[in-house]
Amino acid sequence: LKNVPLFEDFSDDELEKLLLICKEKSYPKDSIIFQKEDPGNFFFLICSGRVKVIIETEEGKEGILAILYPTEFFGEMSLLDGEPRSATVVALEETNVIIIERNEFLSLLYKHPELALKILKTLSLRLRKANRQIETLMFLDASGRIARLLIDIARDRGKKVDEGVLIDLEFTRQELGNLIGVSRETTIRILKSFEEEGILSIERNHIIIKDIKELERRV
Ligand code: CMP
Repeated sequence: LKNVPLFEDFSDDELEKLLLICKEKSYPKDSIIFQKEDPGNFFFLICSGRVKVIIETEEGKEGILAILYPTEFFGEMSLLDGEPRSATVVALEETNVIIIERNEFLSLLYKHPELALKILKTLSLRLRKANRQIETLMFLDASGRIARLLIDIARDRGKKVDEGVLIDLEFTRQELGNLIGVSRETTIRILKSFEEEGILSIERNHIIIKDIKELERRV
């Protein structure tokens, strides 16, 4: 817990108290952690693994609102506003979480204003990202959406290599498309055309962006 930014200001004593109210839970790959409209009684902190936050249509189409990584949290919204879960959360790989029950979580916020501020800061960043997603969906065509998604992933999680910026493809092409409302087929076609133009190269598990400037021009 010491390495989790959310609790970095806690003293050893406070961390020990915190441990008493935390439970560990493990979810296998592809399991549903909770579903949209479920009542929300727990706060979740990711220790290892990855989850996707999704909404689905009745025909089974999926939209991905966010992908969350270790030290990130979810499930806070229902605890704060008392409404049912706003989205479904699914484990993308085996995922270990710490869960804190609603009343324990709320009393932590009262006792630790700095924790409340950190959660507010994260909510603000998430709203910023969501606004950017709305902008993408409102104003960009499929190729602009893919260009912007690749730029955002490169910024958040890219690694500099000799040929450019490498991004690990931790998700399927389908999921890549589901992040921006583009079908799997169109996603594959546009990635291929970017590759033919020399903007990027596609390997099995990663993409190397060779010309990020050109990608920016496509947005
Ligand atoms: P809650 O509504 O309790 O359950 C679904 C959770 O998904 C929600 O709390 C947030 O923790 C998380 N979530 C919902 N929308 C987003 C988003 N746009 N970005 C990141 N996380 C989100």
